[in-house]
Amino acid sequence: MRILVTGGAGYIGSHTTALLRARGDFVVVFDSLELGYRQAIGDTPLVVGNTRDGALVKQVIGDHKLEAVIHFAAYKAAGESMTSPAKYFDNNVQGSLRLMEAACQAGARQFVFSSTAAVYGAPKTLPVRESDDLRPENPYGESKLIVERMLKWFGTCYGLRSVILRYFNAAGAALDGENGEDPRYVQNLIPVVMNVATGRTPMLRVFGTDYPTPDGTGIRDYIHVDDLARAHLNALDYLRAGGVTTTLNCGYGHGYSVREVLESVQRVAGKRLEIREEPRREGDPPALVAGAERIRKVLGWEPRLDDLDGIVRTALRWEERLQRSPW
Ligand SMILES: NC(=O)c1ccc[n+]([C@@H]2O[C@H](COP(=O)([O-])OP(=O)(O)OC[C@H]3O[C@@H](n4cnc5c(N)ncnc54)[C@H](O)[C@@H]3O)[C@@H](O)[C@H]2O)c1
Repeated sequence: MRILVTGGAGYIGSHTTALLRARGDFVVVFDSLELGYRQAIGDTPLVVGNTRDGALVKQVIGDHKLEAVIHFAAYKAAGESMTSPAKYFDNNVQGSLRLMEAACQAGARQFVFSSTAAVYGAPKTLPVRESDDLRPENPYGESKLIVERMLKWFGTCYGLRSVILRYFNAAGAALDGENGEDPRYVQNLIPVVMNVATGRTPMLRVFGTDYPTPDGTGIRDYIHVDDLARAHLNALDYLRAGGVTTTLNCGYGHGYSVREVLESVQRVAGKRLEIREEPRREGDPPALVAGAERIRKVLGWEPRLDDLDGIVRTALRWEERLQRSPW
């Protein structure tokens, strides 16, 4: 297939780009490079631009005769969105709207969208299913939910078919250690712990040790970035086969607590890490675990790298590689 990958120079986008190219798809990455790296995509064609520039998007899709869009480009820091909501609505909503409009005008009517478990807010029951209540608790989650809703209307009105993937916590790095998450902007626990393991930050702050979970710390569903990336290939195959617009959780269906992740990193890195226990952070649900049956049924996707120590090992290998030769 011929695919536009927005945000393709970022963490999940670059892993997806590598898998698409490995199976012979033609990819053009469209990225502002504000938070992404040219080095992450090798010799993949790259257009440096902003998704809010609809004219440029339309031209790129037309020039390269692209049939589908995978849309990763967005800001993703939930905490920052509470202090800068306009920044999130502008980039995530406005950027998606201009992109969707341009894609329809240029005739690329197959669309895969990076949504998030943050659309659920604090779920009442676990695992959380796609049909459960949507109550985002920050502008980041709200911005993604708005785009989900716009996509459904673009389907009805313009025939744009989409797969909306609600990611849980993407984690880990390429198996060859040559690509991974930018450690400077990480929010998720595994790369944050990794920064402590590699000495970039002195200690791990554990927020909340009195949650109603077995060890009192928060539980999240961590999915290896390569498994997550592969779900996008399956989503494209589904759309190419005529699949209708659908929404799917992307997670393993079970979670690990902060303490379990910490134990894993200490085991893999072979050292004890300093931690400081702090009160809960507002807006952090005690546990977030995906109901993960639907994606298996609809896309035929199956996890291959569901192993916490394995995820941590890839992340550590990437950190060590970055320390040897930074990007
Ligand atoms: N990492 C996670 O655990 C996670 C979880 C849920 C959802 N998501 C979503 O997945 C997507 C990718 O996340 P990531 O972790 O790879 O993030 P990332 O920050 O590594 O990548 C995002 C990329 O998009 C680019 N970008 C941002 N706004 C742009 C714009 N307007 N125009 C062009 N390029 C732009 C950045 O330069 C960057 O390369 C995001 O939409 C994020 O909200 C991520």
